[in-house]
Amino acid sequence: MTTVLQPFPYAKRVPAVTPMGAAQASSSSDVIPFSYGTPTSDAFPYDGLKEAALKAILDHGRDALQYAGAGGPQVVKEWIAQRSALRSIDVTTEQVLVTYGSQQAIDYAARTLLEPGDHAWVEAPTYFGAVSTFRSSEALITSFPIDEDGLQVDLIEKALEEAVRRKHPLPKLVYCMPNFQNPGGVVLSLERRRKLAELAYQYNFFILEDDAYVELTFTGKHLPAIYSFAPERVIYLSTFSKIIAPGIRLGWAIGSSDVIRRMNTFFQGSKASVFSQEIAAQLLQHLPFDDHLEALASRYRSSRDVMVDSLKANFGEEVSFQVPEGGFFIWLTFPEDVDTGRFVQDAYERGVSFIDGSKFFVRPEGARHARLSFSYCTEEQIRRGVRLLAEAYQAYQASRTAN
Ligand SMILES: Cc1ncc(COP(=O)(O)O)c(C=O)c1O
Repeated sequence: MTTVLQPFPYAKRVPAVTPMGAAQASSSSDVIPFSYGTPTSDAFPYDGLKEAALKAILDHGRDALQYAGAGGPQVVKEWIAQRSALRSIDVTTEQVLVTYGSQQAIDYAARTLLEPGDHAWVEAPTYFGAVSTFRSSEALITSFPIDEDGLQVDLIEKALEEAVRRKHPLPKLVYCMPNFQNPGGVVLSLERRRKLAELAYQYNFFILEDDAYVELTFTGKHLPAIYSFAPERVIYLSTFSKIIAPGIRLGWAIGSSDVIRRMNTFFQGSKASVFSQEIAAQLLQHLPFDDHLEALASRYRSSRDVMVDSLKANFGEEVSFQVPEGGFFIWLTFPEDVDTGRFVQDAYERGVSFIDGSKFFVRPEGARHARLSFSYCTEEQIRRGVRLLAEAYQAYQASRTAN
């Protein structure tokens, strides 16, 4: 019998988007990857993890490999609850849900909050991983600009007032990255955190506060989380990906007991990898965590400095950017008529990758921007990569003048 393959009507909920971010990690190894939003592998607490993995097995034997684990998951939750106090988040372990990376927490939050056709409001620019998750929930997405103090909350307020006046639907969810935003690198001011929290109560929406980069501060400063101002209307998310290693795939959500109970149902009885949690528990109990974080911040701060200096030396006044005080990214702004998508391929062929600005927007905009990540590369690579980027940009400008 010959098999005749008929076209299959796949679910439309799967968004037709090109995978980004981690997926780009498979690109050519000769290319300097400013496109990766990834921690450098040198920064993983490698020896600590080796010992932690062995100890997880030696101390707990086969229990560490059971569905429920051997107490590691509880240790991890307790650590998260305690650490969160630094951001004025006061919670019990029942309010913590450990997930397979914070990407899964975004998904479970979206599934908990959004019906198809509901409105989700995001920042412009924003993290594309979250956008594709909201699209899978069939949400309608609207974006609001950021400036040097983060999301422009006054524009959110105006839009809410306008929606009420015109009897338009209100958002169910506002997605916001308050610290070292991806890709903008900016921090949401204290005043705006308070205001956004107030609006969430007034207009009855949830804030999805994605705090993936909070621990990577170069100044040691911490603002209170938005959660601390509206605990019943915020789901707070963070991750071990940037401070331990992405491969352990552990992130978390914090919310009211009710929200966490609802999100937990999506696990269908199981949990985020219990063995990873057993290892993380050992690591968190034995690693001098503050020293580890200081070493990370110092490493990323010097990488940032090298990138800033190289950009100034190679681009002069041609690009502008805010120097980020934490996180992984520098967000470049080129002159108005530049389209960075037009030289991304040439830059790649010359040996450097970056992500062109339009990828971070939900509307057709942002072409004059580019995201460079300083987190993955060595200082030598950063210097060379910025030189190659400048060459690609100059070639692009020259070809425009010639035409
Ligand atoms: C803002 C933001 N949120 C969430 C994630 C997802 O991280 P993970 O699923 O590894 O915890 C990332 C990853 O790059 C990110 O940049």
